[in-house]
Amino acid sequence: MIYDMDMLKAFYASYAAKVNLAAGKLGRPMTLTEKILYAHLYEEGIQTIYRRGEDYVNFRPDRVAMQDATAQMALLQFMNAGKSCSAVPATVHCDHLIQACKGVGSDLPAACEANKEVYDFLRSVAEKYGIGFWKPGAGIIHQVVLENYAFPGGMMVGTDSHTPNAGGLGMIAIGVGGADAVDVMAGMEWELKMPKLIGVRLTGRLNGWASPKDVILKLAGILTVKGGTNAVIEYFGEGASSLSATGKATICNMGAEVGATTSVFPFDDEMDRYLCATGREEIAVLARANAACLKADPEVEADPETYYDRIIDINLSELEPYLNGPFTPDAACPVSDFAEKVKKNGYPQRMEVGLIGSCTNSSYQDLSRAASLARQVKAKGLKMAAPLIINPGSEQVYCTLKRDGMIADFEAVGGVIMTNACGPCIGQWKRETDDPARPNSIVTSFNRNFAKRADGNPNTHAFVASPEIAMAFAIAGDLCFNPLTDTLVASNGERVKLDPPVGETLPVDGFTVDDNGYVAPSADGGKVEVSIRPDSRRLQKLEPFAPWDGNDFLEMPLLIKTQGKCTTDHISMAGPWLRFRGHLENISDNMLMGAVNAFNCQTNRVWNRLSGAYEAVSAVAKQYKARGISSIVVAEENYGEGSSREHAAMEPRYLNVRVILAKSFARIHETNLKKQGMLALTFRNKEDYDKVQEHDRISVLGLNQFAPGKPLYVILKHQDGTTETFEALHTYNEMQIRWFKAGSALNTIRAKE
Ligand code: F3S
Repeated sequence: MIYDMDMLKAFYASYAAKVNLAAGKLGRPMTLTEKILYAHLYEEGIQTIYRRGEDYVNFRPDRVAMQDATAQMALLQFMNAGKSCSAVPATVHCDHLIQACKGVGSDLPAACEANKEVYDFLRSVAEKYGIGFWKPGAGIIHQVVLENYAFPGGMMVGTDSHTPNAGGLGMIAIGVGGADAVDVMAGMEWELKMPKLIGVRLTGRLNGWASPKDVILKLAGILTVKGGTNAVIEYFGEGASSLSATGKATICNMGAEVGATTSVFPFDDEMDRYLCATGREEIAVLARANAACLKADPEVEADPETYYDRIIDINLSELEPYLNGPFTPDAACPVSDFAEKVKKNGYPQRMEVGLIGSCTNSSYQDLSRAASLARQVKAKGLKMAAPLIINPGSEQVYCTLKRDGMIADFEAVGGVIMTNACGPCIGQWKRETDDPARPNSIVTSFNRNFAKRADGNPNTHAFVASPEIAMAFAIAGDLCFNPLTDTLVASNGERVKLDPPVGETLPVDGFTVDDNGYVAPSADGGKVEVSIRPDSRRLQKLEPFAPWDGNDFLEMPLLIKTQGKCTTDHISMAGPWLRFRGHLENISDNMLMGAVNAFNCQTNRVWNRLSGAYEAVSAVAKQYKARGISSIVVAEENYGEGSSREHAAMEPRYLNVRVILAKSFARIHETNLKKQGMLALTFRNKEDYDKVQEHDRISVLGLNQFAPGKPLYVILKHQDGTTETFEALHTYNEMQIRWFKAGSALNTIRAKE
């Protein structure tokens, strides 16, 4: 059995009692999020009532999931933690490193060869430390977790920002950096600020072209990329229970795009059906017996304004399909307004590629609805106007679609079936294009559309939509097409209209799979040897970062003052750099190469104090490091938005950047910085950002009195000799200050061994 039934039985045996204890302590009705969080406190019993948005809490998650790109660094750190096996069930999923090129037949063997060293490393570490291993081609982490591991009322962390996908099965699932995963696997407490709660009340029922994806695309427009920060989005209402479990997962998945800590739906019949359909009847029985504790109390639903920090209403009956983009997932636009937006902004009107899949939208339901449109191409005498690429979410989904004829439907219209893996969603796309300098448009069913994300080309305008909308636009090849109202010209010259997509939420004949790609850990892992070649270009043993030397940071050069959006993609690019995710020294060559320098509006060209020349960011940082000089990065809002990759925190740390001073931080990245012993500070007055000049020497004072809630001081020494002083704030608690002083969180774990 892939999941640990004994663990699950033990969990459900005590779950209701823990929830009831919390209810007694709180003395009021509870939301679902509160029930799950209080049932996972690290402490025995409940000593404290935690204030939402203020108090840090120590939790005891049930599971850990890691994808191959982040697992390398997570496991390199875990190997330094001095443990013989993972304290909780954990899995590694090989999905990010597979390049999409010609199709699964040739791409998968090519990836297995190109990444052999990394896959062998991950498999041997997994075997040694009791961690499940999902081979390349088995599927995308979040789809595989949903099919096999997610369970109502559970709590997991995953080293990927779209871990909240498991909220579709009623789990609190949170994206974290590898160092957090190490805490959980080491059996330590895992810390999180008690999140605020955004309640989303869903009414009505989806119909026609509207899909679960459109719920979150609309919500992204309401909340923006920062609106969910430090909050859990909890869905409720009759509309919620009308959505399939995989549809709920899509919505939870993209909660990451609004910065939410996670998203969750209450347990219902759809979850029950999905658990049974995926071979987990035993869990469904236990969940049913605990149903009252797997949803908010009735008083909460009756008066949500009292119990949530914010309420948003969405009527599914009125929902239109959305297309969000380009370059940011919160640029939301209903399809009825989209043509006007395209024309007004001069976006390239020709739609050049439709891409379906990713962890967000590659369930049986998603792909069967898209396949229904593929069938209409032939039936209505149409031709595809743009190429179509499909990445199924798992081998189980792929085999089931194949048996049910839907892979053939896609192939009949020229669709290329790529590996069950991330592919273009993470820049692993060897796209063939006649002219990369030409602005071009693509429509994807992915979750993220930052510049260069899919194909590394800044001229690509990526719009995020549902799979059925991506499919319809690939048929039309025109961004000004509205499938709900417009017609297309068939081969006989007649004008025809596409019928709304149809599909099954679950396969009528059940799921099927030949080899799901799972490798169970060794029963005797102690004997397994993990080897890292000293001359490896892809893997490198980690050396602990040095502890803080007890002094303030004085007169540091400014490495870069970034302007505008600076996501983890800008800080540590994916695509071709993914191959160095296990080698800190080599991947540090990409540090901040996508960030825009506020002084010259260029990327990867910053002033080098030592040479006076403009050079690549990492090259300058390396020269400072070689001379023992620490440096500082200054940034704008939501710095580190996007993925959970801790390389974005480890690279600056490795290259002697000691401080990131920003207008605000994205949650996961701020924690990652803290874990790696960096100083993550925010301007008390955001206008102080404007005071920072290119040639400044910058000091951070007050570190000897570094304490929770106590500001630090920044002194800018300008080139003309004048100085300016202002306050900088931080969110470090006592434990995080210990991490800073020790040099990293890992150093504190190691010290306890
Ligand atoms: Fe993979 Fe893209 Fe999801 S990179 S995990 S498919 S967001």
